[in-house]
Amino acid sequence: MAAPRGQWSGKLGFILAAAGSAVGLGNLWKFPYITYENHGGAFVLVYLGAIALVGIPIMLAEIILGRRTQLSPVGAIRKLAAGRAGGSAWTGLGFLGVASGFVILSYYSIVAGWTLRYTWMALGGQLEALAAEPGALGTFFGGYVADGSQQILGNGAFMLLTIGGVYFGVKSGIERVARVLMPLLVLILLAMAVYATTTAGFGKAVTFLFRPSFGELTTHAVLEAVGHAFFTLSLGMGAILTYGSYMGKNESVPLAGIAIAVIDTIIAILACIVMFSIIFTFDMDVTKSAGILFTTLPAVFYQLSGGGLIASAFYILVAFAALTSTISLLEVVSSYAIDELKWTRHQATLTMGLAIFLFGILNALSLGAVSGISNFSPLGSAHAGLFNTLDYLASNWMLPVGGLLIAIFTGWFLSPKETWDEMRQGSPGCRSLYDGWLVLIRFAAPIAVGAIIFSIIFLGMEYQ
Ligand code: PFF
Repeated sequence: MAAPRGQWSGKLGFILAAAGSAVGLGNLWKFPYITYENHGGAFVLVYLGAIALVGIPIMLAEIILGRRTQLSPVGAIRKLAAGRAGGSAWTGLGFLGVASGFVILSYYSIVAGWTLRYTWMALGGQLEALAAEPGALGTFFGGYVADGSQQILGNGAFMLLTIGGVYFGVKSGIERVARVLMPLLVLILLAMAVYATTTAGFGKAVTFLFRPSFGELTTHAVLEAVGHAFFTLSLGMGAILTYGSYMGKNESVPLAGIAIAVIDTIIAILACIVMFSIIFTFDMDVTKSAGILFTTLPAVFYQLSGGGLIASAFYILVAFAALTSTISLLEVVSSYAIDELKWTRHQATLTMGLAIFLFGILNALSLGAVSGISNFSPLGSAHAGLFNTLDYLASNWMLPVGGLLIAIFTGWFLSPKETWDEMRQGSPGCRSLYDGWLVLIRFAAPIAVGAIIFSIIFLGMEYQ
């Protein structure tokens, strides 16, 4: 007898868990540095447009697919595609999602492991000692990532936490972790934002973020904003679809989807305000690399009064954000085994978690520890090493292609009667919202995501 399928305890449970998936390293690490590189203001506006016109429609599409079928990606797409043009070929889209979850988690959890190490060092005072010595933070970071056993240890520790979250199920595991960590994360970030207002760089940070200068906007920036919109919202691989499959029929799909996107966006903007206020206070340079979180910021934290506390709170915040995201990645892979292979949740979580950890060892060793995999560059020297190769493949190919296909499948292959029937349950009065959504999912989203894929193939652009 299969165990009954899990469900969130209610609307808040779903929103917190899905917002937990969305808010992650994408918000706290990647968004600040791409905003910096693209000169702030105008880029931020375009990004907001991309969230509204592309992100939210695909988010609603994923929730509709999941809630309609009460299945994870493979089963959901298979069930809906049955008997239609293209039929079983569409199931490939479900498998693409599971593969994306596996691949992304195998390297995401390594960076997440770094946040544990930095939390530890901030609490113990070692980070402060490094910050006091010019150049020591950079030297430490370089040595740390190239230390294979440290990388495997950090990755293993983070995978254990992730497995712990998924193991106990939808309500008692995933939702419970999100219910504790998300409010704490918001509190820490708000406290830091209040602090940021007292720093000398605050005014400059606000101007940088909110005064657009369109002369500096490039085509690349526009496409990067669209690409990031759906990485940051966890779209294109069925994570939101899977979470949507645990949602009750009496809850509003559009309300939940919009709430998740708004929470994610506010947190990304707040993170920028905090980081830029501090960085501009000391006129530091922001480099395009993991450097902003692990070398630039620790250097500035300790120039502030209460630096030790700020640094500790900050790394705890990033670790929390990463954990609720890794949990959603593992849930996509595990729920495939639960729904399709009929494994128990415990079997699925432990087996898939272990498999991803073992595969992740290759990534852990590809940051300098083992030269063969560190120099492995099938996609060119710009993506040297297995870690970078997979990151490039996932963000530039697997997610955009997945997102495009989800938009086409939901907008064109399902009938408006079906999608309206699903959206209306829990929010019967949302007809005009539905009509707007249908136009966006049929036209705006495929065109925007298609443009990204076109630009990668024909213009050689990259988004990572
Ligand atoms: N949204 C996460 C972030 O911004 O860090 C990354 C992510 C998590 C992508 C889960 C995809 C996913 F399924």
